[in-house]
Amino acid sequence: MSSEGTASQSSVKRVGIRDVRARKGRPEKLIVLTAYDALFARLVDESGVDIVLVGDSAGTVLLGYDTTIPVTLDQMIHHAAAARRGVKRALLTVDMPFLTYQVSAEQAVTNCGRVMQESGTDSVKLEGGGADVLRAVQAVTAVGIPVMGHLGYTPQSEHALGRSRVQGRDERDAAALVEQAKRLEDAGVFSIVLELIPASLACAVTDAVSVPTIGIGAGVGCDGQVLVLHDMLGLNDRFAPKFLKRYATLADDVRSAVRQFGEDVRAGRYPDDDHSF
Ligand code: KIV
Repeated sequence: MSSEGTASQSSVKRVGIRDVRARKGRPEKLIVLTAYDALFARLVDESGVDIVLVGDSAGTVLLGYDTTIPVTLDQMIHHAAAARRGVKRALLTVDMPFLTYQVSAEQAVTNCGRVMQESGTDSVKLEGGGADVLRAVQAVTAVGIPVMGHLGYTPQSEHALGRSRVQGRDERDAAALVEQAKRLEDAGVFSIVLELIPASLACAVTDAVSVPTIGIGAGVGCDGQVLVLHDMLGLNDRFAPKFLKRYATLADDVRSAVRQFGEDVRAGRYPDDDHSF
């Protein structure tokens, strides 16, 4: 399903792959946020973001897993289909979960195809820049499924990455990351997420590729920025990395509202006449 430059029945101009690519090097940065359901996807979409990402961070943020590794293809399709129902304008991208695209090109095409057909997403995101991922990107883009790349700290590989979350700090790792970004571009990605790398390295990657880079914990030099919605809303209040800026304190609001409801009910203040038939 292509959204390229089309107008829906309500004549909303939808963001397409070409629109995202055209933002390379532009002063107007790409705005990207996650959403895992129709309600938040609608609110985020109505607020003017360019891309809604159904991240496999759903596993840690919503489902209570310690990592994103247990997230399954069926779970991602479930969340993606819900988000699809909420998004009318932004480009929708869905994370392919761990081990659904690395084993073989055939498996990558089959699984990405399933996500696209069953959720209606506009594109998928694959983590990493190794030979297995490059092969997958080539095969998946060859059948017409747009792919976003993801380099730097890649949560699905967290056991392999070791203790330091910030990647590419030494010269050799930094050079390898720039090389991987170029290879991902050659393989056909339409944009690349750069997670938790030094700001100077993110600038070097951004200069080295002609597709937009989208940073998270990667400084100001990228072509766009992404955050996990529940983190920036202060809903996921146990997660407080240095790069995160909270724009609301919704976890406090939730606890306070729930306490007030309990107090009102116990005191017989709710429901009052105004809320009764
Ligand atoms: O899963 C996710 O939410 C992501 C973003 C952090 C980029 O991959």
